[in-house]
Amino acid sequence: MALFAQQTTSASALRQASTAASTPDAEAVDAVPPARIQLEAVNVQFTTRNGTTAALQNIDLTVREGEFVCLVGPSGCGKSTLLSVIAGLQKANSGSALMDGKPITGPGPERAVIFQEAALFPWLTAAQNVEFALKQRIRNKKERRAAAIEHLSMVHLARFADSYPHELSGGMRQRVAIARALALNPDILLMDEPFAALDAQTRDLLLAEVQRIWQSTGKTILFVTHNVMEAVTLGDRVICMGTRPGTIKQEIAVTLPRPRAVEDPDTARLAQRIMTHLRDEINKIAQEESDHAATLIAPARSGDTGDIPDPLANSMGDGI
Ligand SMILES: Nc1ncnc2c1ncn2[C@@H]1O[C@H](COP(=O)(O)OP(=O)(O)OP(=O)(O)O)[C@@H](O)[C@H]1O
Ligand SMILES: [Mg+2]
Repeated sequence: MALFAQQTTSASALRQASTAASTPDAEAVDAVPPARIQLEAVNVQFTTRNGTTAALQNIDLTVREGEFVCLVGPSGCGKSTLLSVIAGLQKANSGSALMDGKPITGPGPERAVIFQEAALFPWLTAAQNVEFALKQRIRNKKERRAAAIEHLSMVHLARFADSYPHELSGGMRQRVAIARALALNPDILLMDEPFAALDAQTRDLLLAEVQRIWQSTGKTILFVTHNVMEAVTLGDRVICMGTRPGTIKQEIAVTLPRPRAVEDPDTARLAQRIMTHLRDEINKIAQEESDHAATLIAPARSGDTGDIPDPLANSMGDGI
């Protein structure tokens, strides 16, 4: 059973066509894949009791069919917020967020999100977790089970089909989450630091796996990470974000041959260059934090500690 239709106009297919030794098809090489996601002048603010934060300011971003785009930036620069706007989980305060030319008004089956911690149902086995995502598409139970196993084998976990999440390692759980997201057969995968909690070896294995899946399925992927090496290893483009307010600072096209690995010298060199740009942002945050800390520490040292809220003052008296 063919699980995924190949997208013949994907960015990767075009790239391969343009670098093929044989005479390339002029039409295919010239064609630009259609824009799937378009953000224009997107602003998102959060207002809390501590004031208003400009999480995203004036964001313009286009992601084309079959592209692998990575977003990097320091903690708090708005990466997850940007992904949530595209996922339809967060509304922009102003600007437009479009998918296939239509406003994004909420989540949809064509976009699947994979979070940092694999959010699996603990009472279902690996196969049942994947089957859950297949329920709408495949009514027949036996076929659904077979398709679930096929998806698990894409992430090399068919042997663990009947294991429960607590019987799997963190990396294995994340692979089940990827299999489940793929089972939804989305056009677009939105991945928010999916490997952040994993050890380096498991992460490197999954980086290879995600590249392989992307190349064989032609999915469009938007991948958030704070790890520049990860971004350069995976992305066609790396978008660097700056913080306070969250903005796009720079966009770097990565044309290194695939598959890429973190230990490739070219990958490491490019990552180093991007890190140099990001370091300014990281230093800016560190400076702001220490300035802010100083304004809190000075009055504390002089004895003016302010009011420490009583943790029970707002309780409802019944332990809630
Ligand atoms: N629900 C919320 N309410 C209030 N402020 C929020 C909310 N969500 C995010 N923010 C603020 O918006 C800014 C961007 O947050 P976001 O989670 O998008 O950053 P990030 O780049 O994903 O960070 P990290 O790398 O740490 O995950 C931060 O200053 C954060 O405090
Ligand atoms: Mg985040």
